[in-house]
Amino acid sequence: MKKIAVCGKGGSGKSVTVRLLADGLRARGRRVLVVDSDESNTGLHRMLGFDSPPEPLIGLLGGKQKIDQEIEAEIRAGGTEETLELMRDRTEMRLADIPPEYIFEKDGIRLINIGKILMALEGCACPMGIVSRSFLKKLRLEADEIAVVDLEAGVEHFGRGVETSIDCVLVVVEPSVDSLEVAEKINELSSQIEIADVWVVLNKIISEEIADRLRDYLEKRDIRVIGAIHQDAEIFESCLEGRPISGRVAAEDVDKILDFLFP
Ligand SMILES: Nc1ncnc2c1ncn2[C@@H]1O[C@H](COP(=O)(O)OP(=O)(O)OP(=O)(O)O)[C@@H](O)[C@H]1O
Ligand SMILES: [Mg+2]
Repeated sequence: MKKIAVCGKGGSGKSVTVRLLADGLRARGRRVLVVDSDESNTGLHRMLGFDSPPEPLIGLLGGKQKIDQEIEAEIRAGGTEETLELMRDRTEMRLADIPPEYIFEKDGIRLINIGKILMALEGCACPMGIVSRSFLKKLRLEADEIAVVDLEAGVEHFGRGVETSIDCVLVVVEPSVDSLEVAEKINELSSQIEIADVWVVLNKIISEEIADRLRDYLEKRDIRVIGAIHQDAEIFESCLEGRPISGRVAAEDVDKILDFLFP
C-alpha cells in the first residue's frame, strides 16, 4: 500500500481526511507525501499548516499551454488524452528529483500541488488531470514513503486514468443522499477499471444510528465501509479559522482506519 487516493462529493471532507491520514501516518513513522490534485479548491496547504502552496507541478512540465499543445499533437497522431504520456524521457520520478520550489515540507509532511484553475477562461481541467496521472504513474516511493492524494470532487478523475497507479481509493461519505450516490458511482467505475481496494470512510458522523443507516445503505450495494470519522467540533473550528486541521476525536477515528490499512 503506497498510494492512497481520497475522493468523494464536494465538501464531504476529503481534504480534512487527507490531513488526518497524513498526521496518522507520520505518527506511525512513515514519510508522507500529500499530492494536491484538486484543480479547484485552494485550501489544502493551509489545512496542512503551510503558509503558501508550492509551485504547481504543471509548471515543471512546461505549463498548461505546452501541455495543451501536446494534447493536440497526440490527438492529431490518432491518440487521445488518455494515451498522452508526459515526461516520456523518464521511466520514473523520485521525490528527491523534484526541485524544492515544487515540493514543500513541514513537520515531516511533504506537499506537491498539481495545479489550479485560476481563471474562468482556463476552463477545462484536462491538462491537470494528465499531469496527475503521469506524475502518479512515474512516482517511485521509498519503502517508508506513502502518498495520499486529494482528488477533485466527484467522479471525473475516474476514467481519465488518474486512478491507474493508485493502490487504494477511499471515498469520503457524509450523511447525505448525494454523497452516497457519488460513492456508488465511484464504486461502479472502480470495478470497471479494476482498482484493487475501494473503501468508504463515513464522515461527520453525529451518532451510531446515523453511521448504521449509512452502512446499511452501502453494504446493501456491496460497498465496503472501512470506518467512520465523527463530527468533531475542533475540526470544524480549525476550518472556520483557517488553521491547520486538528481534532482529537477525528484523529482517533482515523487511527482505527490506519490500523486496518497498515496492520
Ligand atoms: N469530521 C469533521 N468534523 C467536523 N467538521 C468537518 C469534518 N469533516 C469536514 N468537516 C467540515 O466540512 C467542511 C468541508 O471539509 P473539506 O474541505 O475537507 O471537504 P472537501 O471534500 O475537501 O471539500 P471540497 O470538495 O470543496 O474540496 C470543512 O470546512 C469542515 O467545516
Ligand atoms: Mg478539498
